[in-house]
Amino acid sequence: MSDARPIGVFDSGIGGLTVLRALRACLPHENFLYLGDTARLPYGTKSAETVTSYALQAARLLVRWGGVKMVVIACNTASSVALGPLAQGLAPVPLIGVVEPGARAGVSATRNGHIAVIATEGTVRGGAYVRAIHGIAPEMTVSQTACTLFVALAEEGWIDGPIMEHAAQRYLAPLFSESTAGAPRPDTLVLGCTHFPVLAPVLANVLGPQVRLVDSAQTTADAVVGELRQRGLLVAGATSGRVNFMVTDSPERFVRVGPVFFGAPISPDAVETIDL
Ligand code: DGL
Repeated sequence: MSDARPIGVFDSGIGGLTVLRALRACLPHENFLYLGDTARLPYGTKSAETVTSYALQAARLLVRWGGVKMVVIACNTASSVALGPLAQGLAPVPLIGVVEPGARAGVSATRNGHIAVIATEGTVRGGAYVRAIHGIAPEMTVSQTACTLFVALAEEGWIDGPIMEHAAQRYLAPLFSESTAGAPRPDTLVLGCTHFPVLAPVLANVLGPQVRLVDSAQTTADAVVGELRQRGLLVAGATSGRVNFMVTDSPERFVRVGPVFFGAPISPDAVETIDL
């Protein structure tokens, strides 16, 4: 059995390209259809209702128009507030979010049981990471904070330099102060937003080598492989898969900044502007 239909990957912008990159590395023969809702970014500062309705529109488009065999919600904000309604709205098409895989990565990485999570306002407010981590390991201490400016800095491509460093110090200092809830200083930082992995070098520099940085890209890719295999949906063959991109605003910025996240050039010919 071989299923050549594409895998749909969705984010509010270019952040999900960090997940697509890991997916491509694990599944080089699969075809992918990526949708970045760039016209309505950021999702992280919007209400759960708004994010749910945006994410439903996007995921339905991937299924109905894109004919995808699975949808990966490569956005923590949408995964944390909309996974239930999305799963219901898309059934029987399988759906995978990034929060559960990110929580698993954090639990595997920590040695002292104190995990810090940085994410968008919406993800932090909804508490999805705290629930997901405690669902796996109830004894863990979880501290979290919203790093709203990081999304704009990443979208702008300002992933290093003094402005990014200053923002990182400002956001991280309270999380990593010795006094947090009487627990040991966190030894693990979960990058709970798919825009953040490109900021990892600066974050690592600010935090020092004792803190492990993890994100959900690899664990999500592992979950996708497992799900496709279990459902008999993998593509067979040796040719390398295609990647097509859709954005809801002009593709210029996506083509310019996206490669930093994707780790490869993005041809303007592969990007289509669509209306949701
Ligand atoms: N990349 C998205 C996430 O993982 C959020 C960025 C935004 O605020 O739109 O949460």
